[in-house]
Amino acid sequence: TKALILVGGYGTRLRPLTLSVPKPLIHFCNKSIVEHQIEALVNQAGVNHVILAVAYQPDAMIDALHHLESKFGIRITCSREEEPLGTAGPIRLAKDLIVENGDDSDSFFVCNSDVICEFPLKEMIAFHQKHGQEGTILVTKVDDPSKYGVVVAEDDGKIERFVEKPKEFVGDCINAGLYIFRKSIIDRIEPRPTSIEKEVFPVMAAEGALYRMKLQGYWADIGQPKDFLKGMHLYLDSVDKKWKKGQIEHDDEIPKLAKGDKFIGNVLVSESATIGDGCLIGPDVTIGPNCRIDDGVRIQRSALMEGVTVRSYSWIDSSILGWESTVGKWVRIEGLTVVGQDVQINKECYINGAFILPHKGINNSIHTSGTIV
Ligand code: GDD
Ligand code: MG
Repeated sequence: TKALILVGGYGTRLRPLTLSVPKPLIHFCNKSIVEHQIEALVNQAGVNHVILAVAYQPDAMIDALHHLESKFGIRITCSREEEPLGTAGPIRLAKDLIVENGDDSDSFFVCNSDVICEFPLKEMIAFHQKHGQEGTILVTKVDDPSKYGVVVAEDDGKIERFVEKPKEFVGDCINAGLYIFRKSIIDRIEPRPTSIEKEVFPVMAAEGALYRMKLQGYWADIGQPKDFLKGMHLYLDSVDKKWKKGQIEHDDEIPKLAKGDKFIGNVLVSESATIGDGCLIGPDVTIGPNCRIDDGVRIQRSALMEGVTVRSYSWIDSSILGWESTVGKWVRIEGLTVVGQDVQINKECYINGAFILPHKGINNSIHTSGTIV
C-alpha cells in the first residue's frame, strides 16, 4: 500500500521556525512531524512506499528523510511541483508513482503533513473496504469548526456535504486531514492547482462516493504555535495513558516520560539533554537533544528544539524555542513566544508573545504580544 503526504506549503503560520526547517521536519515531541506519520502508516497500515508531495526545498526533505527508508524498510520518493498545486493537484501529478506496478492494493492513503492524532489506520482500512465507495475521510469534533473543512454525514457515514472553512455554522465534525482513496479518484483531478476540499470533495459527496469515519482519541493540526502546544499536551497525555494501560505494541516507539523531583506532569526529555539542580520542569514540556538547562530554571507548557541552552533562574512558559538558541540568566519568556534558530536572549530580558527571527540578539525586553523582531 502507498501513501502520499501533502508536504507543502511554506508553513508560514509556524514562522520563524519554518524559516530554518520545512514544517514536516520540525520536531514535535522530539521526532519530526512527518516521522510520526510515516511510523503510523508503516506500523498500522503496512504502507511500503511513501510519496512526499513537495512544492519547495525537495532536496532538504529527501536528505533529512533518507534514513527513514532503512529504519522502516520502505521506499520514500519525492514528487516535486514546479508551482504549488494545492491539495488535489499533487495527487494527479504523482499519478505514475501511485498507480505503478507491483502494488497489491487498489487504494492509497493521503495525509496532510501537519496533523497529529491517534492514527486509527487499521480501522480506516476495514471501514473503507466495507462501504466500498471511492473515498474515506477521517473526522473529529472541534470547538471552532470555521478554520477547517466541515463534514455533514448520515448515520452510516455517507457524507452529504463537505464545506471548507464555512462562514456560517454547518456542523462541528471536521476533516482531520487523513484519507483513503481508490486509485480511480486520480482521474477526477485536473493537472493544475486544485483544492481537494473545495473542488473535489463537494462533487464526490453529491455523488455519494465519500464516507467518513469518526476518530476516537486526540487530534491536533499543529501548523500554528498555539495548536502546536495544545497538540503536545494531547500527545503527551496519550503517551502517559498508554504506559499506564500497558497498551504498547511497538515498544521502542512510545517515548518514556521523565520521572523524578524536577518534573511535574508529562515531560519528555531527550537522553542527551542535561538539567541542573533545583529546576522545575512541566507540565507539558519537551526538551530536545543536546539541550542544556542550568540550575533553578522553571519551564512549563513549552517546546525546546535541539541544542537550546537556558541559563540559571530563567522562566519559560507557553513558548517554543528554536534550535541552538540561548536564553540568558533571569530571563522570563511567556505568552506564545516563538524563538527562531540561533537566537541569543540576553540576561534579565522579559519577552511576551514575540516572534524572534533566526540569528537575532535580543538585549531589551519585549512587552507587546505579536511583536516580530
Ligand atoms: N504539495 C503541496 N502543494 N502541499 C500543499 C500545498 C501545495 O500547493 N498547499 C498546501 N499543502 C499541504 C499543507 O502543507 C498541509 O499539509 C496540507 O496540504 C493542508 O494545507 P493547510 O494549509 O495546512 O490547510 P488547513 O490546515 O488550512 O486545512 C486543511 O487541513 C484541515 C485539518 O487540519 C484542510 O484539509 C481542512 O479541510 C482540514 O480540516
Ligand atoms: Mg493545516
